[in-house]
Amino acid sequence: MAEKIKNRSLSKARDAKQDEFYTQLGDISNELKHYRSQLRGKTILCNCDDPFESNFFKYFALNFNELGLKKLIVTSYTKSSIVGAHLPLFDIEGLKPEGREPYAIEINQVPDQNGDGAIDLSDVEYLLKNDANTSRPLKGDAAYGGGDFRSAECIKLMKKADIIITNPPFSLFREFLAQLILLDKKFLIVGSQNAISYAEVFKLIQGNRLWLGNKSGDMAFQVPDHYEARETRYWVDGDGKKWRSLGNACWFTNLDLAKRHEEMALFKKYSSEAYPTYVNYDAIEVGKVSDIPEDYEGAMGVPITFLAKYNPDQFEIIGASHALGSPMHQFAKRNTYTKRGGGSFYLPNGDGTYRCLFDRIVIRKKAAR
Ligand SMILES: C[S@@+](CC[C@H](N)C(=O)[O-])C[C@H]1O[C@@H](n2cnc3c(N)ncnc32)[C@H](O)[C@@H]1O
Repeated sequence: MAEKIKNRSLSKARDAKQDEFYTQLGDISNELKHYRSQLRGKTILCNCDDPFESNFFKYFALNFNELGLKKLIVTSYTKSSIVGAHLPLFDIEGLKPEGREPYAIEINQVPDQNGDGAIDLSDVEYLLKNDANTSRPLKGDAAYGGGDFRSAECIKLMKKADIIITNPPFSLFREFLAQLILLDKKFLIVGSQNAISYAEVFKLIQGNRLWLGNKSGDMAFQVPDHYEARETRYWVDGDGKKWRSLGNACWFTNLDLAKRHEEMALFKKYSSEAYPTYVNYDAIEVGKVSDIPEDYEGAMGVPITFLAKYNPDQFEIIGASHALGSPMHQFAKRNTYTKRGGGSFYLPNGDGTYRCLFDRIVIRKKAAR
């Protein structure tokens, strides 16, 4: 039930195109620490990020020297309700964009201007104020507005970057990912685990061209003042700031991380009673990832949360229930099973009826190396 409520909340955000969910600095630094060595000497692009508001900008600008970055490029989006409006990191008179003009900021170095031995926001502020080369407006083109990741000038920036790191708009997640893949880019982006079920996203996961980052699950995001109150997963903090949380947020990436090479410890033994076979696909049902049997060599259906622990050296992904489940009318009489949209796996209830399962990923253990 709780799962359903969470998923509903994400879908509604997408439907209403409520794309202004701001990632917390703690979530960014906790995730980024898993990729540090891969960032050294690289050009990082945050292309859905008002430089004056985004914690992605803040994180990379403050850690520019420590991470050994070559360049940081950050762009804001023309239609963002927050461009220079809601969540200021800096209050820089005369520099902050007037109105809604989108910006690109390019940083090649962050000197310790105040000489205190560390980079802090005042050093970044100094740089933005005093180095005119760092910022420029984005104009857009005939098809897309300024700062739109699909506009020609932003695509050019994407091509120039080594790694794209951001939380893109939920409503354009598929398009955003497709563009990254088309341009063959390295990336680390926030999304919803719902995306795993999109056929094109799953294909990338199955082909080991995309995987989950370190953190999956609950994540809280600040939202603009105009966002409406909700019954669940919404609150206002002591400073009057509005927050929303998602229960199935995750990071998607094609950067390597240690977790992907950790072997999952398996404790359970297979039995046909504990692990029934689906009616409409030849695999056993494993309802919980922690219940994957250590002694079963065949195909197993597991919840999509498996991907948070997926080690491609330990398991291979055969497919997903949405594509593999054969139509139930081939196996059972009408009205003996409930139908979900798309393919799903079914188990017998024992009384002539069948129950439909949530999305499953079909995996198989790889032969011992
Ligand atoms: C989920 S929010 C995240 C903002 C920021 N990356 C962060 O994590 O705090 C997505 C941002 O993308 C912006 N956006 C929406 N459509 C866009 C587009 N077509 N191109 C670039 N940015 C866009 C939104 O205005 C919004 O600020």
